[in-house]
Amino acid sequence: MGLPFIGESIQFLRTGQKGHPEKFIYDRMAKFSPQVFKTSLLGEPAAVFCGAAGNKFLFSNENKLVHAWWPSSVDKIFPSSQQTSSKEAAKNLRKLLPGFLKPEALQRYIGIMDMIAQRHFDSDWDNKLEVTVFPLAKMYTFWLACRLFVSIEDPEHVAKFAEPFNALASAIISIPIDLPGTSFNRGIKAANLIRRELRAIIKQRKIDLAEKKASPSQDILSHMLLTADENGQFMNEMDIADKILGLLVGGHDTASAAITFIVKYLAELPDIYNEVLKEQMEIAKSKASGELLNWEDIQKMKYSWNVACEVMRLAPPLQGAFREAITDFMYAGFSIPKGWKLYWSTISTHRNPECFPEPEKFNPSRFEGNGPAPYTYVPFGGGPRMCPGKEYARLEILVFMHNAVKRFTWEKMIPDEKIIVNPLPIPEKGLPVRLHPHEC
Ligand code: HEM
Repeated sequence: MGLPFIGESIQFLRTGQKGHPEKFIYDRMAKFSPQVFKTSLLGEPAAVFCGAAGNKFLFSNENKLVHAWWPSSVDKIFPSSQQTSSKEAAKNLRKLLPGFLKPEALQRYIGIMDMIAQRHFDSDWDNKLEVTVFPLAKMYTFWLACRLFVSIEDPEHVAKFAEPFNALASAIISIPIDLPGTSFNRGIKAANLIRRELRAIIKQRKIDLAEKKASPSQDILSHMLLTADENGQFMNEMDIADKILGLLVGGHDTASAAITFIVKYLAELPDIYNEVLKEQMEIAKSKASGELLNWEDIQKMKYSWNVACEVMRLAPPLQGAFREAITDFMYAGFSIPKGWKLYWSTISTHRNPECFPEPEKFNPSRFEGNGPAPYTYVPFGGGPRMCPGKEYARLEILVFMHNAVKRFTWEKMIPDEKIIVNPLPIPEKGLPVRLHPHEC
């Protein structure tokens, strides 16, 4: 279990920073058990559950044997005025989210996504010989979130917001030492700054809704302000600010990492790129000039989504997530004490030859037909806590792919660019690529 307090956190984080997060898991699966092993992470004793059976066990025992748990760093970065912990906050948030994030509700935003994507490519990709993909992908997903969550469109306002988000992601899985200069400390400051900004927006929106200058369905903020819980209570400003902050954080780096790796694999695999291009050009040709993408178009992007899925199998944006044992129980012959933290990981199945034959091979056809066996493909988790932003992410990724391949082919400028995982996988230099616009 490693050193006192720190445990094996450093090894856990370091294998990721070296670009091989799977090493931490697979080394211990080989040494101790392929089903479950114990360690100590982020100051807590933890059992790491492995393989499809481990995923199934954790996903299907939510609130029976286990419940969600976030590192204490997360609770400190997202304190909520009413809730006692992020567990409660997440539970309440989940009840509200489906209304806004379910596919039927998102359909009406596809045109807006396409419009923002076009604006993004016009201003930041067109007429450039070279671009660095990861910062641009972050800008794109952030623009979308600002528009769809809180209706902010003014570029200066968006930029004011964007800066502190970068400090947040690394703070969330950092060791929670709140001293000046630590990334944890920077994360808390950044969260406070964004929260203040959000509260100002919320106040204004309340006025605009009362004066009918804003619409109840224009974004998730209106939805939250106007939706009461089962006791008829409305959320206060601070809670709403925290929840929107949670959504912005949950959706920002994850989708940008996925997009960055899609661009990377499409640069490396011209045959796959050509198939994606073919599918997207058929859709583009079926549209009138200036007509925006819609739900029917998205339904036709089957091959492109299989490619995106295969990218997220090989480079899952999130490596895994924690649970906490709410009672003593047995698993695979081992006793798991109440209070222990439990970790499931995408890696233990995504690169396992028993789950995916020839796991290193890029093969989007794995997702055809019934697709992978249950509990083996888990980039969005599973069970009751599965990522509520999955459908939103699918739309923003597909809209991005459509706009990117329609305009360019590209090549990587650093052929063997290293991947670091901190906590999300990112090419070390952000994936600089050389663009080649299609000849009209
Ligand atoms: C490719 C993009 C994304 C990936 C791979 C991803 C993956 C995940 C995973 C693995 C979890 C943890 C599930 C668990 O605890 O077992 C999660 C949770 C969450 N995600 Fe996503 N996500 C993505 C995009 C988004 C987006 C766009 C949003 C918001 C619109 C979002 C909002 C959330 C929230 C709020 C949670 C916490 C849910 C809870 O605790 O119950 N995610 N996501």
